[in-house]
This record gives sequence, C-alpha cells and structure tokens, in this order.
Amino acid sequence: MRSLTVGEPPADVPSPSAAPVARDVFRRAWTELEREIRECTRCPLHANRTNAVIYRGSDAPRLVFVGEAPGATEDREGVPFVGRSGKRLDSAIVEMGLRAEEFGVLNLVKCRPPRNVFVRSAAATCAPYLDRQLALLRPTILVPLGAEALRSLDPEAPRILLAAGRPRRRDGRQVFPLIHPAASLRSRALAERWQADVRALGVWLSRPSDPSAREPL
Ligand code: URA
Repeated sequence: MRSLTVGEPPADVPSPSAAPVARDVFRRAWTELEREIRECTRCPLHANRTNAVIYRGSDAPRLVFVGEAPGATEDREGVPFVGRSGKRLDSAIVEMGLRAEEFGVLNLVKCRPPRNVFVRSAAATCAPYLDRQLALLRPTILVPLGAEALRSLDPEAPRILLAAGRPRRRDGRQVFPLIHPAASLRSRALAERWQADVRALGVWLSRPSDPSAREPL
C-alpha cells in the first residue's frame, strides 16, 4: 500500500469541491491515515496518550463538528466527545434531528494535552492530519466548537462569542461556529447561548434551498 506523508495529501485525495473519492480509495487512504495518527510521535503529547482520538461518524458526512482536543474519557476510549461535553453535543445533535449518516465528530488535536490545557503548537503539528481527514470526508459544512477550533478553521473570523450562531464561508465551505459545549456547562448564560445557537444551526440546516446538501456517495 502506498504510504501517505503528513502534510502532503496524496494525489488521489481531492479537494472538497472535486469528484467523490471512490469508496475503496477512501478506505485505503483512511486506514493509512488512522495508522499514521496512532503511531504519531511528532509532538510531546504522544508520550502520555492512552489512545489517539481520531473520528466518530459517517464516512460521507454533510457536516463535521470540530472540537479542540480529547479529554480524559476520550483518551481512555479513543473516541472524540464521549465525556460530559460529548453528552451535551449529542443532545444538540438529537435536537437538530441530524441522522447518523449526515455528520462526523473530530478534534484539531488527536492526543490529550496535560491537564486538558489546549496546546497551540500541537494543533499546528496535527493540522495536516485534520486537512487529510477533511479532504477524504468532504463535508460541505464545518462546525467549529469553541474559540480554538474557530481560529484554526477560519483565522479571519471575529471572536467566538461574536461569530457563534451564524453561518460564514471559508475556503469553499460553510462554517457555522458554536461555543464549545464545555463552555455551555459553565454558566446559565452560556447554556442559554449554546441552546439558542444550536437552535439557529438546526433551522439553518433545514432551510429548503440548502446548497450544501449533497447526494450520498
Ligand atoms: N473537548 C473537545 O474539544 N474534544 C473532545 O473530544 C472532548 C472534549
């Protein structure tokens, strides 16, 4: 099998606007990418991980939620957003009526940072993995969860409390930021903000002339 090098998407992985990736090409490239991430030693975070945390969801999602970095539960289980924040995110997904084949969940950083303090240099090192995941998954909508995810996906966006709850465009994709679900657990005001923005995302997703809806592969 051909080896994929970090930072250099293979020629057969197209940009989001290009033709769908054939399923067998997708499977091979995804399996190789997962192997590389699991074996990655490119930044110090690898030293303390139990599991690299890569992805959960559809292999042809319309929408991908992008979090920051795994917490303790995610590190233990090797799956993104399965702790307290994940429960809040899952409730929102149910409320919006998203079907399993429509969405995916991942993080900027694949290994848990010590004390759950986000490490920007780790996000920069991990960025080629995120780029390759998105090139294979080809979502038309990205939902950055929190300030760090928004900064990475749309560096020109205003700060998260100004940007959350409405759609933007970036690099041929629609970007609909939300505050981080963990932030929504911190105060009543942020819980209400989360609820309002989730409702706005649900309404936006179900608008009749959604140009981002695409045929399943
Ligand atoms: N917070 C995140 O940003 N990602 C997770 O996977 C869990 C908590």
